[in-house]
Amino acid sequence: MKVLVTGGAGFIGQHIVRELLGRGHQVCLMDSLRGDVHAGRAWLPPADVEIVKADVRDADALDQALQGVDAVVHLAAKVGLGVDVQDLPDYASSNDAGTAELLAAMARAKVTRLTLASSMVVYGEGLGRCPIHGATVPAPRTEAALAEGQFEPPCPRCGKPLETAFVSEDTPFDPRNAYASSKVAQEFYASNWARVTGGSVAAMRYHNVYGPGMPRDTPYAGVAAIFTSALRRGEAPKVFEDGGQRRDFVHVRDVAAATVQACEQHLSGVRAFNVGSGTPRTVGDMARALSRTLNGPIPIVTGQYRLGDVRHITADSTRLKRELDWNPRVSFEDGLAELTAS
Ligand code: UD1
Repeated sequence: MKVLVTGGAGFIGQHIVRELLGRGHQVCLMDSLRGDVHAGRAWLPPADVEIVKADVRDADALDQALQGVDAVVHLAAKVGLGVDVQDLPDYASSNDAGTAELLAAMARAKVTRLTLASSMVVYGEGLGRCPIHGATVPAPRTEAALAEGQFEPPCPRCGKPLETAFVSEDTPFDPRNAYASSKVAQEFYASNWARVTGGSVAAMRYHNVYGPGMPRDTPYAGVAAIFTSALRRGEAPKVFEDGGQRRDFVHVRDVAAATVQACEQHLSGVRAFNVGSGTPRTVGDMARALSRTLNGPIPIVTGQYRLGDVRHITADSTRLKRELDWNPRVSFEDGLAELTAS
């Protein structure tokens, strides 16, 4: 089939384009190559791919790019966290208005299959388990608590520490920053579109994606890239909070395979899929593993914090495995070795 990949020149997009081509699909790649992501990074357009250099908010460019297309993988978005309130308009415009334009254009072109890059951040702090009150949604962490070094979000009813539970796709939305809010909005817009047009939506809720081609030294750099860059400069990785915050680091080729499998197999209705390796690790673990691999200085735990950060967020990706026959293939050790060698 012919697949339009928006944001196809980005970190995850490049791997998805390769995966699609490897599975015999035709690809049209649409990307604005926006300066805050691509400045200073060489990008070699892949061979055998139609390229449309345009922003997804450009309705005419979308009409052109959607010609002859059977399915869309929508990745084009402003990522990161949102540093302050002044970022809100750009998230709303790039992510929400961009998705709305795409959906309207898909309806004009009668393209009914959408695979959407969503994120685990839609769950906020996810789910905790209180020894007294059972499963509970942690309250947002306050600036005052973080400044005092109280990083664990307590049970909102009794204040006791919570154990982290794995989040399933049925966990309620609870976005805690501008980016997360825009991802929730994208999912809602896509559901509305699906109901009206009869289209299908697979919302891929990616966990922390790492691997070759990760953005470095840009506002979009994830923690693995930030630590690797520091170690390459001979500096110790700076671990925020107390380093005990948990994430699920999932390799970009596994994410690309999951996305393409969803694009090929999910043909009706709206379905969300968590995309994680299934093995949560602390940010401190990640820093120490990278220091060891690169033979660099021991990480420094700084106690710094970012107000929009969630403490722990760990996925249950059983649905993806069961329904789309997906399994992660790249081990954490192999993934880190490859990342540090690249
Ligand atoms: C990441 C993605 C986001 C995605 C989400 C899915 C990036 C930039 N963000 O968000 O797009 O939707 O996963 O779960 O890839 N940290 C440090 N030191 C640093 C920088 C960060 O300790 O120098 C810590 C942060 O405080 C945080 C953790 O590392 O606890 C992860 O941060 P980051 O890589 O920015 O990712 P997320 O915010 O989890």
